[in-house]
Amino acid sequence: MPKDHHTPSSGFDASTAHVDADGYARMYQASVQDPDAFWGEQGKRLDWMTPYTKVKNTSFAPGNIDIRWFEDGTLNVAANCIDRHLETRGDQTAIIWEPDDLGTDAPQHITYRQLHDKVCRMANVLLDLGVEKGDRVVIYLPMIPEAAYAMLACARIGAIHSIVFAGFSPDALAARIQGCDAKLVITADEAPRGGRKTPLKSNADQALLHCKDDVSCLVVKRTGGQTTWTARDRDCLALMEEASDECPPEEMGAEDPLFILYTSGSTGQPKGVVHTTGGYLVYASLTHEIVFDYHEGDVFWCTADVGWVTGHSYIVYGPLANGATTVMFEGVPTYPDAGRFWETCERHGVTQFYTAPTAIRALMGAGDDWVKKYDLSALRVLGSVGEPINPEAWNWYNEVVGGGRCPIVDTFWQTETGGHMLTPLPGATKLKPGAAQQPFFGVQPVVLEPTSGKVIEGNDVEGVLCIADSWPGQMRTVWGDHARFEKTYFGDYAGYYFSGDGCRRDADGDYWITGRVDDVINVSGHRMGTAEVESALVAHEKVAEAAVVGYPHDVKGQGIYAYVTLMDGQEPSDALRKELSDWVRAEIGPIAKPDLVQWAPGLPKTRSGKIMRRILRKIAEDDFGALGDTSTLADPSVVDDLIANRMNRT
Ligand code: PRX
Repeated sequence: MPKDHHTPSSGFDASTAHVDADGYARMYQASVQDPDAFWGEQGKRLDWMTPYTKVKNTSFAPGNIDIRWFEDGTLNVAANCIDRHLETRGDQTAIIWEPDDLGTDAPQHITYRQLHDKVCRMANVLLDLGVEKGDRVVIYLPMIPEAAYAMLACARIGAIHSIVFAGFSPDALAARIQGCDAKLVITADEAPRGGRKTPLKSNADQALLHCKDDVSCLVVKRTGGQTTWTARDRDCLALMEEASDECPPEEMGAEDPLFILYTSGSTGQPKGVVHTTGGYLVYASLTHEIVFDYHEGDVFWCTADVGWVTGHSYIVYGPLANGATTVMFEGVPTYPDAGRFWETCERHGVTQFYTAPTAIRALMGAGDDWVKKYDLSALRVLGSVGEPINPEAWNWYNEVVGGGRCPIVDTFWQTETGGHMLTPLPGATKLKPGAAQQPFFGVQPVVLEPTSGKVIEGNDVEGVLCIADSWPGQMRTVWGDHARFEKTYFGDYAGYYFSGDGCRRDADGDYWITGRVDDVINVSGHRMGTAEVESALVAHEKVAEAAVVGYPHDVKGQGIYAYVTLMDGQEPSDALRKELSDWVRAEIGPIAKPDLVQWAPGLPKTRSGKIMRRILRKIAEDDFGALGDTSTLADPSVVDDLIANRMNRT
């Protein structure tokens, strides 16, 4: 066995796992040889109002990217996530809400019956406000139960939700409200997080100043903190009290949009990724069950925020479609102390725990004692998502958190893919620390030669990761811009979905993600386009030009490194550095704040004026011995200046 093979399953009962190694091989083959038969069968895990007769109708052909699954079936996502469970598990907890501060709020256990009541009430509030099937609703909420109610209420009446992470700025929120022409924004007075409060309502007010006058605003009074109240505002909880607790679910086509979620790309402003109803839910539900080896009675905790796709698929839609108990956490891993995750796992008897490498690294740094204080014996499966996990963090997660008995599923996927794409399966895969390993059912990864686009066959190879055929959870389009969808994902390598990631297929045929090959950076598992940060920087009056790249960061995975050329007459200073970082923070949100700002009298450009980002990346990585050919630069001397004045990364 190669030395990086690892089987931590000494205490994991593989005999009860949904899939073993042979089962995986068999099912995977079946899924790619006859997708219609495989997914036709899997589709039955949902309740359909009109059963589908067609399963897969997809084309990756240039100029005709068209993706439809179960297209003649009809269903309702909220009915699948709530109503169908009422008879058998009405009194079972659907959502455990864990507040930020246990000193001021108590956890809530919301049963499926209570969830039905709340979601129907909120759906009726939306209807009363004039929201109709197909309308867009922007959700800008903390991690409170109302966020899940709002998602499901939209799904119930056929409205399309677009969640904006509560850490985004008023400008970013405004762009997303305008981008999908939303009729309504649902927000809260304040978002408590880590003992601090973000003024969401005030942010929403600022954003709405830039939006059409007829956008309404539904406000959840979360903290009761002071907010201004305008003519467009409605009190969400008060209206829910008065509303009826019955609301029949709308019959939706399988290909009707369920949600839009904005995500960063390598160029331009974020795009609205569109996911639809039937295929998305089948995929979220199946991956949740198989990848986390979910069984009745388990308590599943995904620590993500519903502002990201991970929260959509693995806090709300996947677990609830499966009738699970899902934990929704309002806070942060280190508040009130670095034991918060583990104390919460013990208190709720969490069986599956799913988090990001950045959190694991931060908690590893806080020391083992924080983990050892708590009884984590209920844990069976651990998950990782959002960025490559380094073997050191993997081993700590495995040994200290999992006690060497919980398989770790390192799940590679994207906002665009709706659910897991490459991942080990508990009990079926011999684990390798740091590898996403093998494709989920129906996923056909290929490794391409980056420049020629030729398929690289065989093992022990490296290239860019593409997917050869459609899977049900795939995004269908970019909201309002199908041409951008085709160009972004199918423009570089005809006939293939291009992930934007590089990968290696090792000697055993296992996949390792090597990171983005485009201008997207991954900061603490949050995806950020360098172009977005650059355009925020150049919007500052003192900045003439800016180029932004990622650099390796011990905890965040990648940090943001900005090269800034100031306007003539502006003096560089530490105060200005801080001013620019704070400016970006205000323009986009705290996650976009540059970690390092280097003054660059000039940027390395080709004679045609294109910035050679490869060089900037190398300097930021402190790898300037390998700058490659700089002879095509208009002025090669700028490189020496940048190297001499590079920022100290410690
Ligand atoms: O680069 C990959 C990285 O995160 C990107 C997708 O980001 P986002 O759309 O925000 O979705 C994150 C959560 C699904 C990918 O292109 N990524 C995600 N998971 C992994 C990963 N990189 C390595 N290993 C992973 N497990």
